[in-house]
Amino acid sequence: MSVKISPSILSADFANMGVAVSQLADWGADWVHCDVMDGVFCPNITFGIPMIKAIRKYTDLPLDVHLMIQQPDKYIERFAAAGADIITIHYESDGDTLESLKKIKSAGIKSGLSVKPGTSFEEVKKYLKYTDMLLIMTVEPGFGGQKFMVEMLEKIRCAKSYIEENKLDISIQVDGGINSETSALSAEAGAEIFVAGNYLFKAENMKSAVESLR
Ligand code: DX5
Ligand code: ZN
Repeated sequence: MSVKISPSILSADFANMGVAVSQLADWGADWVHCDVMDGVFCPNITFGIPMIKAIRKYTDLPLDVHLMIQQPDKYIERFAAAGADIITIHYESDGDTLESLKKIKSAGIKSGLSVKPGTSFEEVKKYLKYTDMLLIMTVEPGFGGQKFMVEMLEKIRCAKSYIEENKLDISIQVDGGINSETSALSAEAGAEIFVAGNYLFKAENMKSAVESLR
């Protein structure tokens, strides 16, 4: 897969979400990153299925839905029906990881598996053959605007070499504290898909900010 930029709408103006989402293609974004949080898996509550359904009308870009919720398997079909193109679940959420990944596949869309900073790559490598993307969190899930954890670069390197050695067809996504510097470091380590919230939505010129990540 080539480089993809996935702006996180968590940093957009929630009262004008349709407008924000409709501009992303012109700004050069590839995907739209949607952070779903339930206040149980992580310490924040954002939005759910109705928001995915609502923004679906405002863009043709793939909706990259990051589920930071417990029991994600219960909601996969409904997120897919609402218009998600990629659904990422967390290894640490309760529920059967493999079953959830299979459910995403049977909904006919792409899947992602995410790991929090404290989870080692070793723990999840057995699931890689069942997913299209590995999301390595570079902050603790919950909020935009946090600082990129440089220690995660080693995890990215480790995942990248495992993927290459085993000839797996999967891409590495990074999420949290991504800007033009940390995206370059992550790319060097092996990441190809870059989520960015604050860096893009707080930029004076969103188009050049997207370009600077690419
Ligand atoms: C954090 C979310 C991220 C967040 C990224 O839990 O998963 O997608 O919005 O925001 P920035 O780029 O501001 O760190
Ligand atoms: Zn995210």
